[in-house]
Amino acid sequence: MKFFIDTANLDEIREAHALGLLDGVTTNPSLLSKEDGSPTDVIHNIAELVPGPVSAEVVALDAEGMVREGLALREIADNIVVKIPMTLEGLKAIRSLTEQGIPTNCTLVFSATQAILAAKAGATFLSPFVGRLDDLAVEGMDLIEEIVEIYQNYDFQTEVLVASVRSPLHVSQAAQIGADVVTIPAKVFSQLASHPLTDLGLERFLADWDKVKDR
Ligand code: E4P
Repeated sequence: MKFFIDTANLDEIREAHALGLLDGVTTNPSLLSKEDGSPTDVIHNIAELVPGPVSAEVVALDAEGMVREGLALREIADNIVVKIPMTLEGLKAIRSLTEQGIPTNCTLVFSATQAILAAKAGATFLSPFVGRLDDLAVEGMDLIEEIVEIYQNYDFQTEVLVASVRSPLHVSQAAQIGADVVTIPAKVFSQLASHPLTDLGLERFLADWDKVKDR
């Protein structure tokens, strides 16, 4: 399973990257709006730091505009993945960019039918938003199960990238289902390794070692 970090904050990305477990980054316009500097500079700095795929989103609503913005994003760095919203125009843009050999990430996915269309259009990654479904009292992980099964049925090559992750439980559930990628906010990233029994156990080991170390 690949781990992406879901942020445009360079410090957070640097910290996760230092662990040696980071496979890529996802950004979106809202995440970029929280950072200083121009979005182009921020994306450039992220893509320079992390060698894996870095998703950067278009904001045009028509296919032609999306393709134009996607090509401009690819000028920033070779590891940019063009993030395109799931709309009919978005599907046309995904098809066009795919034909030009440019990787895409179809975002704002909330249903299995949307997932099928994105795969048929040739999307490299598909981003279903589990947290935003949970917020509406709809089980987001049920959608991941459906999509993984459908993609296996037809051997679709599009990678399922679980997005809108809110907790370590989302990460373990996504892994259990067999999703290809999970994009994790920095806060959840740091929660993944922690357990109170680990802290307690370590504290006891060190205290006991203190009693015998000078023998
Ligand atoms: C990732 O690609 C999405 O932009 C992101 O996971 C959305 O998360 P949110 O629902 O917490 O904003």
